[in-house]
Amino acid sequence: MVLVAYASKHGSTTEVGRRIAAALIENGVDAKALPVNDVVDIASYDAVVIGSSVYFGRWMREAVALVERNRAQLACRPIWLFSVGPLGDQARAEPAEVESLATSLDAIEHRLLAGALDLHKLSFPERVIVKGVKAPTGDFRDWKEIDSWAATIAHHMKESTVRGAI
Ligand SMILES: Cc1cc2nc3c(=O)[nH]c(=O)nc-3n(C[C@H](O)[C@H](O)[C@H](O)COP(=O)(O)O)c2cc1C
Repeated sequence: MVLVAYASKHGSTTEVGRRIAAALIENGVDAKALPVNDVVDIASYDAVVIGSSVYFGRWMREAVALVERNRAQLACRPIWLFSVGPLGDQARAEPAEVESLATSLDAIEHRLLAGALDLHKLSFPERVIVKGVKAPTGDFRDWKEIDSWAATIAHHMKESTVRGAI
C-alpha cells in the first residue's frame, strides 16, 4: 500500500494528491491519499509520496513536520516528493527545503507541478499579494503529467515487488 500524504491550503494540492492515489490504484497498486496531519502510522505503508503546495518559496510547515516526525520510518521506504505551485509562465523555482529533504530522505524523485489559483478562495491579504505580483490566475495543473508520473511510481512498486519475490 502506498501512502500519498499532502499539505494543501486552498485545495488544489488535495486534488493532486487524490489524483495520484487514484492513478496508482488504476495502475494496479493499492494507495491511500491523506492530509499530512491525518497520517498516524507510516509503518503500515510500503512507500510514501509526500507533497505540498508552495507558498512564498516554501513547503507548508505541516508537510515538513510530517517528514521530521517520521524520519526513521521514511528512511527505510521508497519516497517520492512533489510540490504544487508555479502558475502559468511564472518562473519554476524549487521550494527552499526540497533539495535537502530529497537528499536526506534519499527520495527517488521530486516533481515540481503547476498549481491553480482561484482568487475567490484567497484571504484578503493573499489577494492583495497575488494582485501586487500580478500572479496568473486559473488552473494550470497538468493532469496528464500527474497521471503519467503516478504510472511511473506504480511501475517502480510493481518491479520492486517482483524483485522481492524472486
Ligand atoms: C500568497 C501566495 C503565495 C504563493 N507563493 C508561491 C511561490 O512562492 N511559488 C510558487 O510556485 N507558487 C506560489 N503560489 C501559488 C500556489 O502554490 C498555488 O496556487 C497552489 O496550487 C496552491 O495550492 P493549494 O490550493 O493546495 O493551497 C502562491 C500562492 C499564493 C496565494
